[in-house]
Amino acid sequence: MEGLKLESHRGIKTNPNPRNEDVAKTIINRFGQKSISLPRIDDGKRLAGYAGITGISRRLARLIPDCDVYCEPLAGTAKVCQELFGPKKISGYPIQFILNDKSKFVAKWLRKEFNYNDVKITCTDFKYCIKKYDSKNTVFVIDQPWFKSFYDQGFSHFDRESVKAYDEEILELCKSIKGKFFITTRRENNRMKKSGFKNIFIQSEYVVMGKYPHVLITTNVSKEDYN
Ligand SMILES: C[S@@+](CC[C@H](N)C(=O)[O-])C[C@H]1O[C@@H](n2cnc3c(N)ncnc32)[C@H](O)[C@@H]1O
Repeated sequence: MEGLKLESHRGIKTNPNPRNEDVAKTIINRFGQKSISLPRIDDGKRLAGYAGITGISRRLARLIPDCDVYCEPLAGTAKVCQELFGPKKISGYPIQFILNDKSKFVAKWLRKEFNYNDVKITCTDFKYCIKKYDSKNTVFVIDQPWFKSFYDQGFSHFDRESVKAYDEEILELCKSIKGKFFITTRRENNRMKKSGFKNIFIQSEYVVMGKYPHVLITTNVSKEDYN
C-alpha cells in the first residue's frame, strides 16, 4: 500500500498507525462470515471481535436438523445462522430465520447486514423470544454470555445477575420447550453437564490462546430428529 510505513516487532511487520479506534466495523472473517471488529474500549484493550462461537459454527451448523423456524434468541453476530443460509438455498429449510438480541447496537447491525425476506430481526428479551417462536418445528441455538466481564462495554447486553442466572433461566425454559435446542457454553459448565439433557463437545476449528478449545453443547436433539 502506497505511503504505508510498516514497523517490525519481533520480526513481524506491523502497521504502527492505530486503526478502527472510534467505531465498530463490519468485517469478513476467516470463514467468510460477517463479523464485527470492535473499537478500543475504556480500559485500553481491544477485543479481537464480537464474542461468539465462530470456531465451532460450521460444525454446529451441520448438526441442525431440518426445521420450519430457526431461531437464535441471543444472536450476537449469528455465526451459526450464517452457515445455514447456503444450505437453505438448496433444501428450502429453514423457512424462516429469527435473530433476536436485546442490544440495540447488535439488532441494528443484524438488520443492516441480513436484510433478507426470510430473516426477521427482533430486539427483545431472550425469554420472550423463545416463548414466542417455540413450536415443534422450531430449532433454537442458544448462545448466552459466557463471562460477565466481556459485556462491560457499550456494544452488547448483559441484564441478569450473573452467567449462572442466565444458565438457570435457560435450562428452566428448555424443560418445557416444544422445539429442539442447542445450548452452547464453556466446556467446564457443570450446570449444563448435570442438566439431564444430552451433552456433546465440539472442538474449535482454530487455535485460541494456544489450544483448540472445546465448546459444550447441551441439547434435546436425538438421532430420530434427522431424516
Ligand atoms: C455470546 S453472545 C452471542 C454470540 C453469537 N452466537 C455469535 O457467534 O456471534 C450473547 C449475546 O446475547 C445478547 N444478550 C444478552 N442478554 C440478553 C437478553 N436478556 N436478551 C436477549 N439478548 C441478550 C448480547 O447482547 C450478546 O450479543
